[in-house]
Amino acid sequence: QSVAVLGAPFSRGQKRGGVELGPKVIRDAGLIERLSSLDYSVHDFGDLSFHHLEKDEPYMDVKFPRTVGAANKMLSSAASRAVGAGHTFVMLGGDHSLAIGSVSGHAQQCPDLCLIWVDAHADINTPMTSPSGNLHGQPVAFMLKELQGKMPDIPGFSWTKPFLSSRDLVYIGLRDVDPGEHHLLKTLGIQYFSMRDIDRLGIQRVMEVALDHLLARKQRPIHLSFDIDAFDPSLAPATGTAVNGGLTYREGIYLTEEIHNTGLLSAIDLVEVNPVLGANQDAVEATASLAVDVIASSLGQTREGAHASIDSMP
Ligand code: ARG
Ligand code: MN
Ligand code: MN
Repeated sequence: QSVAVLGAPFSRGQKRGGVELGPKVIRDAGLIERLSSLDYSVHDFGDLSFHHLEKDEPYMDVKFPRTVGAANKMLSSAASRAVGAGHTFVMLGGDHSLAIGSVSGHAQQCPDLCLIWVDAHADINTPMTSPSGNLHGQPVAFMLKELQGKMPDIPGFSWTKPFLSSRDLVYIGLRDVDPGEHHLLKTLGIQYFSMRDIDRLGIQRVMEVALDHLLARKQRPIHLSFDIDAFDPSLAPATGTAVNGGLTYREGIYLTEEIHNTGLLSAIDLVEVNPVLGANQDAVEATASLAVDVIASSLGQTREGAHASIDSMP
């Protein structure tokens, strides 16, 4: 069992500086040690270094299209290589535009993968529906085959083609969905569980239905794209687009335990940790340590405890 960790210190998918420091604070919170203690062989591939583009004019309203496109192209090949080498791939963001590269690279190796998107936001705006022009609010639109006709040719993205069906995607944690996004969720029939659905059904039932939706027809690799702003801002204050009323710690950890229990998790994104936006050092450390807990729990850390084998017990 091996895990590949790759940092993606990138922030041009949104306006606020500091999210490029996410990989550093998540590592400082002890990620590598935690994964090693779970008995993985951990390959830390360090951080990608993204090139700075001098001239990158907006396209329509889309900000930094070539910079975001080039960063994701680089990340996509790295993700594909890591998964191809047999590792479970862990990408530390950076903003959520990076999911374009991470999921597409994963899909190159595993064309039948399914995607679990844990987020306050649906991140499915197209350049036409986006209220902000920020690409971290649009990554899912680049992935979906059903949106092919609705996506213009954005400079920087000619290397990628849609690869995912809307039925192979589930959202959990939504509570800030733009009108154009809500229209797409409904017309494409995408399975989603908003915070209201979690209130009604409970996280246990939500995970049961979500995993059944993705895996009932056949078992296939899971990509977990986890935006830290899915959590309540009281738990994850150091992030750029915090929204009240998010996941509790226990809901978040139950969710990741259930994903681990499928035995099918193949790649994780942990994005949108922004240490510059924490009110103080404690707020930053709490957010980063929560990110480590999410990754460790996804990879098999249990609350009930565990032991290697009965025979080796004293
Ligand atoms: N829906 C808003 C937008 O399109 C906010 C997106 C926030 N995305 C995120 N990855 N935090 O700009
Ligand atoms: Mn979000
Ligand atoms: Mn997001």
